Amino acid sequence: RDRDVTGVQTCALPILSLLAEIREKASKKGKTIVLPEGTEERTLQAIKGIVDQKVAKPILLGDESEIKGLASKIGADLTGAEIINPAKAPFRDDFVQAFYELRKKKGVDLDKANKTMLDPLFFASMMVKMGKADGEVAGAENTTGNVLRPALQIIKTAPGVTAVSGAFIIIVPNCEFGANGTFVFADCAVTIDPSPEQMAVFAKSSVATATDLCGIEEPRIGMLSFSTKGSASHEMVDKVTKATAIAKESYPELKVDGEFQFDAAVVPKVGASKAPGSDVAGQCNVLIFPDIDAGNIAYKVAQRLGKAEAIGPILQGIAKPVNDLSRGCSVEDIVNVVAMTAVRS
Ligand code: ACO
Repeated sequence: RDRDVTGVQTCALPILSLLAEIREKASKKGKTIVLPEGTEERTLQAIKGIVDQKVAKPILLGDESEIKGLASKIGADLTGAEIINPAKAPFRDDFVQAFYELRKKKGVDLDKANKTMLDPLFFASMMVKMGKADGEVAGAENTTGNVLRPALQIIKTAPGVTAVSGAFIIIVPNCEFGANGTFVFADCAVTIDPSPEQMAVFAKSSVATATDLCGIEEPRIGMLSFSTKGSASHEMVDKVTKATAIAKESYPELKVDGEFQFDAAVVPKVGASKAPGSDVAGQCNVLIFPDIDAGNIAYKVAQRLGKAEAIGPILQGIAKPVNDLSRGCSVEDIVNVVAMTAVRS
């Protein structure tokens, strides 16, 4: 799990301008974003950037005196942030009742609901569900799974979405492929072995990421495999062929094709020779991987060997925006992820 928006110098300019654009878009929205990790130092230090750049109105969760004590110890300015204590919030009882109603079929009783609503990650997801925040950002001190689970249980998936995915925006320096070197890769982070139907959903979700966050005007989606248009026969190839057919049928508005090997998807000459007649082969800027192994490995190879910037995981398909930070994130990363979350709300 990584979010290295820093570290690679060669393409600093494109990424800085993309992130500046996202912060600018966020500043026009005035959204409220809850940050449940209220005693996490980088989160507190990020408040000043979030408030000064108006990317969102931040809410921190936790005990007010503990949070303020830590802020003064580390010199973090919390001006403009609201602090809510899950144990004392005036709407706490409503949250307990709502969680009980949502989860009683899963064996949750009122006592368990009461205890669960003391957990800031669950409380934050309930704030988003109940409209007390527009989005949530966490993960500076919690794993991806722990950030995702409350969101999946409480906020759930958006209408028509059967599975959540985690996309990376990949910006490759000096690259003529994709959208001037910018790509969306998915799923790299959430659904371990998606069905063909779920892969098709990831194609649809990733187009929204490409347009909303990357400004890619014409998303062209490649469904990736180790085979191009029947060059190999295997059930793994069949899965991607089926996913492609479902994506075309379910979302006729998308420009999508496959199954493609990576080079057939992004290199025009290879696309033309291996997939003649395809209207996206060789020109894809949104790449859908057959499983989380392939997606996760691919984004890290692009980042570490290809010197690409990798921004993500950007969670796609949750009914309201929730985003996961890397535990290695910087203060600036938190400001940027809050901005992305605000843009998606
Ligand atoms: N999409 C949508 N809903 C889902 C998904 C999904 N992919 N997975 C689980 N759910 C739903 C379940 O249906 C369930 O709903 P319900 O309780 O209302 O019936 C709810 O979420 C909770 O499910 P659980 O079974 O309790 O959750 P689980 O323990 O399966 O965790 C999780 C789900 C967190 C997504 C898990 O699949 C996971 O850990 N994925 C991989 C995360 C990871 O480690 N990524 C790699 C690192 S990230 C990086 O490198 C950038």
